[in-house]
Amino acid sequence: MVDESGWTRRETLKVAVAAGGAAALSACLDRADEPVPDGPEDLSSLPERQHAWNDRVRTDEHGNRLLPRHQILLYLTLPGDGSPGPDARRTVESALRTLDRAYERSHDGLLSSIAYSPRYFARFDDDLPDSVDLPEPRALSPFETPTFDRQDALLHLASDRADVVLEAEEGLRGRRSTVNGVEMEAPLTDALDVADRRTGFVGAGMPAERQGDLNGVPDSNPVPEASPLFMGFMAGFRENQATEDYVTVRSGPFAGGTTKHVSNLRMRLGDWYGEQSFDERVAEMFSPVHAERDLVEGVGENLGASSGITPEIVDEIGEHAREYARVGHAQKAARANRTDDGTVRTLRRHFESTDDGEASLHFPSLQSGISTFEEVRAAMNGTDLTEVPTIRQRANNGILEYIFVKRRGNFLVPPRSLRALPTPAGATPGLGD
Ligand code: HEM
Repeated sequence: MVDESGWTRRETLKVAVAAGGAAALSACLDRADEPVPDGPEDLSSLPERQHAWNDRVRTDEHGNRLLPRHQILLYLTLPGDGSPGPDARRTVESALRTLDRAYERSHDGLLSSIAYSPRYFARFDDDLPDSVDLPEPRALSPFETPTFDRQDALLHLASDRADVVLEAEEGLRGRRSTVNGVEMEAPLTDALDVADRRTGFVGAGMPAERQGDLNGVPDSNPVPEASPLFMGFMAGFRENQATEDYVTVRSGPFAGGTTKHVSNLRMRLGDWYGEQSFDERVAEMFSPVHAERDLVEGVGENLGASSGITPEIVDEIGEHAREYARVGHAQKAARANRTDDGTVRTLRRHFESTDDGEASLHFPSLQSGISTFEEVRAAMNGTDLTEVPTIRQRANNGILEYIFVKRRGNFLVPPRSLRALPTPAGATPGLGD
């Protein structure tokens, strides 16, 4: 279907979330034929965990969770120095409560969470308790020089509907008085400034549709139609993801919350697609054994509910390095991503982006403490494997040759009851009185 401006519906949706704003929203709304489901009357029916998304997204036939197709990250700062007062806190709570009422908490409606940085908590006199493992972000490999995200807060919006994330954003920024028919009591931007806006998408077909004229993807447009990610494979198999329970902070005032590391990685896929065969890509993404045994077909849907990274594949990584002159990304990362009894430690929820006209990846990872993420990333660096001459720090070492870390940030996602500008002691003075 082509409209007056000569744009098809697909083309409009393709650029709308990245562009943002009222025009992008109205272009989507013109085309939104399905009503968006409302939120509940009784907000106490909502989960206490802001990160409880698993039961509220689509799954594939193997029970793998399919993350919402459209996502926005709003990096927020509090004006001025010092700690926030009750007015700001009430504004934040009221803005978020409006979203709760307006949209069903699901992929058809809206999934959201707000999280706070170490720099935010440093505004208070008290320190965070030891039960919260939230260091400042730092470089996590010897070959990266990222910019650190130290804004106060990060609001994550996600939906299968582009019009929903855009409308919610417009409401939060005070550019719309209603969201899904519900009046915005107070815009979030009465309390917090938007310092940065990043966007993305994930899902079969979406990267292929957006690959033309994009820095980082070769002109031959090699990204397969079936792939949910630019690198041509699916990720996030159920059995290789931590449960929401496992990543939840267990004790202390923020019990019920989680920590969120968010990196942004630029991709340069010229050699990935231009110099590597399909089997070589399988070897570098999964493991050399996956390639040798033809375990991966196409984007990997045939793998089912597990990537097929077994304890043997993890243990034999040194031999693989010598025998095949390559090691796999998942194989390497798994070394630190499992406890001794095989429990998976991180819940990865990454999605793709065309921000700034380049192919990149927003990589939120949830874990009960940030040091877990740091350990997994160290394992992914594979610096130890460079003892084998064919494995270089970036070459033949998983996918490191093709990805470049641009930004890193660490955040605490408090439980819902503490989501509005909490103190380090886990209080929200001024709310509920
Ligand atoms: C363009 C960037 C990336 C792509 C395309 C990618 C893709 C994949 C794929 C296809 C798998 C195997 C399937 C699965 O278990 O999900 C995987 C596993 C994994 N990746 Fe990545 N990944 C990327 C970046 C990262 C980064 C930056 C980290 C950070 C540490 C990471 C950590 C992991 C972990 C922990 C696993 C699971 C290992 C296990 O089985 O325990 N990945 N990734």
